[in-house]
Amino acid sequence: MAPNFFYFSLGITSIITLLVISLIILNERSKTRKPSKIPKLPPGKIGWPIFGETLAYVSCPAKFIHDRMTMYSPEVFKTSLAGEKTVVFCGPKANKFLFSNEGKLVNYWLPSSVAGALSYPKTNNKDSASGKPADNLAYKFLRGDTIQQYVPLVHSMVQQHVRENWLPNNEVKVYTLAKEFIFALSCRVLVNPSLEQLSDIAKPFFRLLDGIFSVPINLPGMPYYKAIKGGKLVREKLVEIIKQRRQEMSHIIMRNNNNNNNNNNNYQLDLLSRLIIDCDKNNKGLSEEEIASKVIGLMFAGFYPTSTTIAFLISHLADHPHVYEKVLQEQLKISESKEAGEQLTWIDVQKMKYSWNVICETMRVSSPVPGNFREAKSDFTYAGFHIPKGWKVHWTLHSTHKNPDYFPDPEKFDPERFANNEPAPYTFVPFGGGPRMCAGKEFARIEMLVFLHNVVTKFRFKKINPDQEKIIYNPDPIPTKGLRIFLQPH
Ligand code: HEM
Repeated sequence: MAPNFFYFSLGITSIITLLVISLIILNERSKTRKPSKIPKLPPGKIGWPIFGETLAYVSCPAKFIHDRMTMYSPEVFKTSLAGEKTVVFCGPKANKFLFSNEGKLVNYWLPSSVAGALSYPKTNNKDSASGKPADNLAYKFLRGDTIQQYVPLVHSMVQQHVRENWLPNNEVKVYTLAKEFIFALSCRVLVNPSLEQLSDIAKPFFRLLDGIFSVPINLPGMPYYKAIKGGKLVREKLVEIIKQRRQEMSHIIMRNNNNNNNNNNNYQLDLLSRLIIDCDKNNKGLSEEEIASKVIGLMFAGFYPTSTTIAFLISHLADHPHVYEKVLQEQLKISESKEAGEQLTWIDVQKMKYSWNVICETMRVSSPVPGNFREAKSDFTYAGFHIPKGWKVHWTLHSTHKNPDYFPDPEKFDPERFANNEPAPYTFVPFGGGPRMCAGKEFARIEMLVFLHNVVTKFRFKKINPDQEKIIYNPDPIPTKGLRIFLQPH
């Protein structure tokens, strides 16, 4: 027994010794082994070839983002949108990261189908997609105090719109009217066309809008084909207007040059005239097509978000009588401070503080735009994940606007949340942020507040068959029946 036991013990001891030595060697090797070279992409799935997950995204952007933040990561996930490999950046940290890395790690990017329908030259997508960097004349016009001088004009146009379209009727389709009005107003401020020119632009512009976000199949009969044709027609009409205006403006340019007068603010001029004067006076040599591109870009950028916000604003006021009452009191106070027939001014707009909180809450609860896109300029790392050069990056306001961490009870419509505290940085971003922040923010504020003033001081609102009004997405929210309301004049 004893020798057997001796050999058995020796065997066991040898095996244990071998195991320990192997473990030590493996441990030493793992210390010297280089880390895996395969970079870690964010979690998520790319979806079907070509379509990727575009259809799921477009049919309800908020749900798409929320589901994937829960499934994959609250910080970043990958997907494929508009035929492009895309990473979606979520939360305030991501917004801050993207807004402050504009032009460094990322560049502005627009899906090629959208750029195509807007007839942007392919080579210049990054700049022309949205006009030009922030220092150009169009941006100064919209951002500076110039646009503030337009409040009386906006007021008189809203009054006329209400007189012709709201007062004679018991009921209206708010979304439909808001679209018509915003189109006419932005044409007036940007281009100032004659009535005939305005109606020439209207039809093709609406055809462009109807199909610009549809499946990009450029075959006769398809909505995208009609959008491209619409875009081309708008461009042609604008080029005609620009040529005509160039001739009309030539004497002003000469007079300014002779008087050595560089101040164009003496003239109540629309943006187009200012662009022409500036280009011709300084020999910048912008062609009619290039000027038309800028104007179409601005008309397109401002159209949907402003008209959609106006429609949902009235919808929320109809649903929340106590909010309506507070808005009415604020607006009546402003009316009472004016002489009969006196127009609103920028000073009055600044007094509409509660009304602005109501508009902010509308943009939070019913975000009129889902966010925007960038392109990675080079490989970089975010939240521990590899973002490859050329991939598209989507920032989305749906990742913060309805997040209970930043907006408690997020589905509740409560304008007071803007009265008491400023939202945490980078959580409320309806206009984006950083150098690419919405250029028309100030103009939009004027349009929406002056519109609100005029309808609230004349009517109370009651929804007609609200159960039949469904909201669909494309990708901005659209009330399917045009948001019908019954008007009760005061
Ligand atoms: C409620 C109304 C509006 C909302 C919510 C809104 C929102 C936005 C957002 C989210 C962006 C993208 C910013 C980014 O990519 O980081 C943007 C860009 C832009 N918006 Fe607006 N917008 C509104 C009205 C307008 C109006 C009325 C105009 C002009 C007539 C306008 C002109 C522009 C332009 C030119 C850009 C591109 C800026 C750039 O890339 O440099 N917007 N807007």
